[in-house]
Amino acid sequence: MFAKIAHRYDFLNHFLSASVDRRWRVVAASKIGEHLGRSSKFTCLDLCSGTGDLAIELQRRLGVAVVASDFCHPMLVRCLTKVRAARFEESIRIAEADALILPFPDNSFDAVTIAFGLRNLEVAVRGLEEMRRVLKGGCTLAVLEFSPPDVPVFREAFQFYFHHVLPRLGARISGQPGAYRYLPESVSRFPAQRELAAMMTDIGFAKVGYRNLSGGIAALHWGVK
Ligand SMILES: C[S@@+](CC[C@H](N)C(=O)[O-])C[C@H]1O[C@@H](n2cnc3c(N)ncnc32)[C@H](O)[C@@H]1O
Repeated sequence: MFAKIAHRYDFLNHFLSASVDRRWRVVAASKIGEHLGRSSKFTCLDLCSGTGDLAIELQRRLGVAVVASDFCHPMLVRCLTKVRAARFEESIRIAEADALILPFPDNSFDAVTIAFGLRNLEVAVRGLEEMRRVLKGGCTLAVLEFSPPDVPVFREAFQFYFHHVLPRLGARISGQPGAYRYLPESVSRFPAQRELAAMMTDIGFAKVGYRNLSGGIAALHWGVK
């Protein structure tokens, strides 16, 4: 599905969210920055990195080395083009890999991030376990994901947009109706903020917390190994 929409993915992300998605990735990178500071000696794994927006934000904001990983080749080709355009080839490496069976040893990374990816994994718990495995002890995972908005009235207006307007616009612009029907459907099936926090705690993350973004349309969760 992502292979089919890769050529329109970035445009639609920014268009359908009125560019608010950019701000959410800045918040996610800043959360990692609270733990790591700004240093090139750290390496962050950005899972389900897609076209690399969060990987690039992490490098730009924190100066860290980043491994941008995804299993969708056309998304990674877009990522590579953007990494080269930003002249980050030295600090952002790309790894084509399945997030459920990562080709990295235990305790490899100083931070792990995943933006709008966890919901897409076949087994989210299995993905979180892999993230915990490859994180070094004491280091932080940040999960950025869509979530149910928590502000009445705004919630109803947003749900109308998300379920009725966005799928039509997405279908027309990408030529792939399924992908933009899948988006609200997959968000409806995904655990809400508190459930996801509980899931992370059950897996063994400590200091789990979350912050709602834009009225809870998205949420940033974090936890420490
Ligand atoms: C909605 S996109 C998110 C891309 C990017 N992180 C962003 O913030 O825009 C979801 C990505 O997850 C990837 N993905 C889904 N399941 C995966 C898996 N099992 N292993 C690796 N990548 C996966 C897809 O290929 C896609 O690029």
